[in-house]
Amino acid sequence: MNAPWKNTMPGNRDPFAAYVCDEATLDILRPVVIELGWLPEKCNRGGLRNAVQSLSVSASPNILMVDLSESGDPLNDINALAEVCEPGTVVIAIGQVNDVRLYRDLVASGIHDYLLKPLAASVLRDSLNAAQAVFSAPKANDPDAAKHHVASAVIGTRGGVGASTLATSLAWQFATKMAKPTALLDLDIHFGTGALALDLEPGRGLADAIDNPSRIDGLFIERAMIRAHDNLAILSAEAPINSPLMTDGAAFLQLQEEFRQAFEMTIIDLPRNMLINFPHLFNEVNVAVVTTELTLASARDTIRLLSWLKTNAAHVTPIIVANKVQSNALEISKSDFEASIERGIDFLIPFDQAGAAKAAKLGQAFVEANGQSKAAAQIRALSERIQGASVIEPGDGDSRPGGKGTGKKSLLGGLDLKALLAKKEKQAGQPA
Ligand SMILES: Nc1ncnc2c1ncn2[C@@H]1O[C@H](COP(=O)(O)OP(=O)(O)OP(=O)(O)O)[C@@H](O)[C@H]1O
Ligand SMILES: [Mg+2]
Repeated sequence: MNAPWKNTMPGNRDPFAAYVCDEATLDILRPVVIELGWLPEKCNRGGLRNAVQSLSVSASPNILMVDLSESGDPLNDINALAEVCEPGTVVIAIGQVNDVRLYRDLVASGIHDYLLKPLAASVLRDSLNAAQAVFSAPKANDPDAAKHHVASAVIGTRGGVGASTLATSLAWQFATKMAKPTALLDLDIHFGTGALALDLEPGRGLADAIDNPSRIDGLFIERAMIRAHDNLAILSAEAPINSPLMTDGAAFLQLQEEFRQAFEMTIIDLPRNMLINFPHLFNEVNVAVVTTELTLASARDTIRLLSWLKTNAAHVTPIIVANKVQSNALEISKSDFEASIERGIDFLIPFDQAGAAKAAKLGQAFVEANGQSKAAAQIRALSERIQGASVIEPGDGDSRPGGKGTGKKSLLGGLDLKALLAKKEKQAGQPA
């Protein structure tokens, strides 16, 4: 049944009520109702009309049984019942007409079951148990049901490695190609490029959110975010560079909470300093896309970031992405980099100067402007991995080669900086 929602709290609803026309049926019904833990007083004398009358002025129960015996036009009366019944109520009809067409029409109009009189206790018990299971099952279109949501933070090990390029491309990919309502939160408050990359003005949304965290709600999100696509909303700022960031981070938590309700995907462009200042940002994050270059400094900071995640956010699945990879001009080879971070690189994105320039010129996400490129193919594969990562529960062992379960020693202890540099010197001038 699906009448417009009445202003009654779900907690005020009775688990069960019945409106039955004859004493003989009530006598069979009451013991079964007691057996199921419900109140026998909720078995009322009277049929469908009484049910409509009394439910028009009170909250409807979770499970409702109505007797159609005295109804001249059961289908019409059932429609009247639908108008006063709240969403989710499971209705069982009883009657004395043994007609399969009536049964099918009743089911088509939203009735859960139709039982023929005289009732047998066992049939009644089975039907009430089934109704209870239907009532408790999650509803596909229930706005209160927990939404499936994946939050990913994209974090660069060093400045300029391409974290923001990845963040906008991933958000674009999720929103347009995977048709998922997506939020892009650019937490590079002063220097962010999330809006710029898509040729949009950042607006004041993020600045307002930081100044007034208590104002953040669904409506605020709708008004403050800028739309890059039907499915892609961006919250960013270009805060004046003479005004330092003044926040305790409450706004970021509130925003994440609202995003979880309103979107299926959240991408956070997360500068490294934000992780240091607001470690709780990771509480609601599922995946960390650690973006790096194959350099010595990046190797050190990849190790430090992975170690930080392991200690402070063990529930997060890290994915290592090496960007701007030029196989003939590597500071550290892939295998040395992997040996030093004690795990494999998950995705290698080639250096693509022309692609980066094209995206900037068109004001499009890299992956949109360069759909056919090798770099875009890697970003698409990354987006699929992130989507799949959502099914890995926190604490699950990751048995992939180089996955998070393979780290044995302390990560920083495993980095022999000198050995890496010596190799680098030896390899100078040789393709990796
Ligand atoms: N695979 C790539 N090939 C060539 N250029 C790239 C590639 N990825 C990103 N770039 C370019 O590198 C520059 C820096 O990228 P981006 O702003 O995404 O890095 P970032 O890590 O977010 O930097 P910041 O530390 O400033 O936040 C941009 O001009 C971008 O177009
Ligand atoms: Mg950036």
